[in-house]
Amino acid sequence: MAESKASLSINGKEVAELPILKGTAGNDVIDIRTLGASGYFTYDPGFLATASCESSITFIDGGKGVLQHRGYPIANLAQDADYLEVCYILLNGTAPTKAEYEEFVNVITNHTLVHEKLVQFFQGFLPDAHPMAMLCGVVGALSSFYHDDLDITDPEQRMRSAHRLIAKLPTIAAMAYKYNVGQPFVYPRNDLTYAENFLHMMFSVPAEEYKVNPIAAKAMDRIFTLHADHEQNASTSTVRLAGSSGANPYACIAAGIASLWGPAHGGANEACLTMLEEIGDVSRVDEYVLKAKDKDDSFRLMGFGHRVYKNFDPRATVMRETCHEVLSELGIQDPLLDVAMALEKVALEDSYFIERKLYPNVDFYSGIILKALGIPSSMFTVIFAMSRTVGWISHWEEMLSQPGQKIGRPRQLYTGEVDKTFVPLSDK
Ligand code: ACO
Repeated sequence: MAESKASLSINGKEVAELPILKGTAGNDVIDIRTLGASGYFTYDPGFLATASCESSITFIDGGKGVLQHRGYPIANLAQDADYLEVCYILLNGTAPTKAEYEEFVNVITNHTLVHEKLVQFFQGFLPDAHPMAMLCGVVGALSSFYHDDLDITDPEQRMRSAHRLIAKLPTIAAMAYKYNVGQPFVYPRNDLTYAENFLHMMFSVPAEEYKVNPIAAKAMDRIFTLHADHEQNASTSTVRLAGSSGANPYACIAAGIASLWGPAHGGANEACLTMLEEIGDVSRVDEYVLKAKDKDDSFRLMGFGHRVYKNFDPRATVMRETCHEVLSELGIQDPLLDVAMALEKVALEDSYFIERKLYPNVDFYSGIILKALGIPSSMFTVIFAMSRTVGWISHWEEMLSQPGQKIGRPRQLYTGEVDKTFVPLSDK
């Protein structure tokens, strides 16, 4: 993989010769692993120019707006694959045959129930607990139900954990919602698709029959697909770092959920809808654009900007189309969509956003779709976490199956005090 070398010289003196590694696509990377011996570390807070691992799962070219999972472009997958096919692709590396797909669907479908004791676990939460708090705690607790199946050196046990997590996350997510609204938990149904089953567990009640709307199921499935994986983002890197110490997969996914929760990451979809509601009317868009540009105001346009995409977010393109389709097919007129479109137009024409290459990201339109499906904004990030679980667990699996895997242990630039003398309290 190393084809050429970079030499590092400091004050005219050669310090190190570093191999340059070539991937199959994307930037070449300079392998700095031997640099520590020379007395230097590299400094890159926020990982602006650091490849933290080698991976063959997802490729992003942020300049060109490219996103591919295992080589398949996201637009193709969103159009022609269902979410479980995408899960299979992420986990196994290539598209399934018909028989492989059917077997995979069967395995996932047969893992959707959770232990009844886990059902009781919810009773410890206050009724108005945020569903992300419940998701984080309950998923972390899952490991206590599988303590005899947590050998992370066994590929079969690892794959079983992956299947369990993909299967059970919608059940747990829907339970968190039901707990919030004070309705009984609804058990999964094996005759429904993954997306249909999630909507069934969210919205059916024992008092009457619930029929899943096919338009809603299709939109839900697409939202799952568009969030399935995204290379080494904050939550995926968190899962990898937690997993690098040998932590069990349920604990690692709980760590990923915690990282996703922040408004700069997966929490942006909830924050974006709150922002659109706060703007409320197209006439106030200019005022909020001004606020976003004001350096003395901490307000940012939620759902705008991305560390990697500096052209457009290809997921946002599909999400935007889906948003228009869903609202028109369901016959919903949502004034928030008008606010969103006006905001997008003004921002895209404004030099502040153009110069900083700030475009709508995947979260800009997803909230409007989820709202149209009757999902409350507190569940938006939960749905993101459910969808991303397959990405997290695929990265965890890839990391553990690579030879020479090491614990993640960054170093630092120390700027604190040194060599002070401690004086005991009795001498003061
Ligand atoms: N609104 C207004 N200004 C912004 C925004 C925004 N949404 N995003 C970035 N900027 C400005 C910054 O103020 C900064 O300006 P400056 O150069 O004058 O100081 C410049 O653009 C660069 O911003 P950074 O924060 O340095 O960019 P970074 O790559 O670190 O951050 C991030 C990316 C966190 C996504 C940021 O754009 C943001 O906060 N967006 C809003 C939250 C959001 O939508 N997050 C979801 C991301 S997608 C996902 O996780 C699924």
